[in-house]
Amino acid sequence: MRVIVTRKIPGNGIKLLEDAGFEVIVSSHDRALERTELLNFIKGADGVLGQLYEKVDEQYLEAAGPQLKIVANFAVGTDNFDLPALSSHNVIGTNTPDVLTEAVAEHTFSLIMTITRRIVEADKLARTQPSSFGPEVLLGMELKGKTLGVLGLGRIGSRVAEIGKAMGMDVVYYDIKQNPEFEQKVGAQFKATPDELLSTSDVVSVHVPLLDSTKHLINSERLKLMKPTAYLVNTSRGPVVAEAELVEALKNKVIAGAALDVGETEPKWAEGLVDLSNVVLTPHIASATLEARCAMGELAAKNIIEVLSGRSPLTSVQAK
Ligand code: DGY
Repeated sequence: MRVIVTRKIPGNGIKLLEDAGFEVIVSSHDRALERTELLNFIKGADGVLGQLYEKVDEQYLEAAGPQLKIVANFAVGTDNFDLPALSSHNVIGTNTPDVLTEAVAEHTFSLIMTITRRIVEADKLARTQPSSFGPEVLLGMELKGKTLGVLGLGRIGSRVAEIGKAMGMDVVYYDIKQNPEFEQKVGAQFKATPDELLSTSDVVSVHVPLLDSTKHLINSERLKLMKPTAYLVNTSRGPVVAEAELVEALKNKVIAGAALDVGETEPKWAEGLVDLSNVVLTPHIASATLEARCAMGELAAKNIIEVLSGRSPLTSVQAK
């Protein structure tokens, strides 16, 4: 059987597939494949180990052919999957939950600390003026005693909440489901609506999946509910935030700042975003630790091995 890997990955994932006896073909380009390149490349595959920026839709499934049995996403997010199309072609979709939780949560906190302590501005200043101490130079915001609002209490949101608590923050959260057990364990407080969370938090960290119902969840109206001293952090999916509206809010000091790992139309940011000093940006690297990325490759490979051996996948995204 043939497994197509659409981009080189770190760790043992490819070796696991080869050891399982599959013909494994890995893209020789260290970049995202153009759509037509991708559609040609996956032709004849029984399994594909693919990337989050590759839309798996009717056209993709047709191009791969009727022998295709699994598309294993090298990501926890699966908004690139057209799930009804996958089902109608009898193709299983899988993702990589758990193994990247710590990496993404740690990156989220790096962003929180970088934006609130103005590290990027400080780095720039220090390179040209190493001794710039001054009582009012680059004043930031302390986290202890401030309120962290976690929007979406899944695996990653929960871990971010725990880290916030460990740093002495008061933690509030919103999720479609209240979680009294988590509230007790971590000392977090449930907010009944996103609006309540936004208006009470000093740092809002977004951890919802991208769905029709979460697209532009953070828009100009909601940004206006935030405190003018508050910060927005997004390591989930870009389209959850209406990015052009965020740019306006940042320009007009509606909120103090934002830190984003994900963009609405990756790989491009909304116009004007990169010119703002109250913004910190990273290029969708929240899960980019060697540990997480190796584990993601291995989990994706194991899902393919299970399915192509006639067994159930470890982390299917359809069987809900
Ligand atoms: C994922 O796996 O969905 C993340 O976006 C990676 O950072």
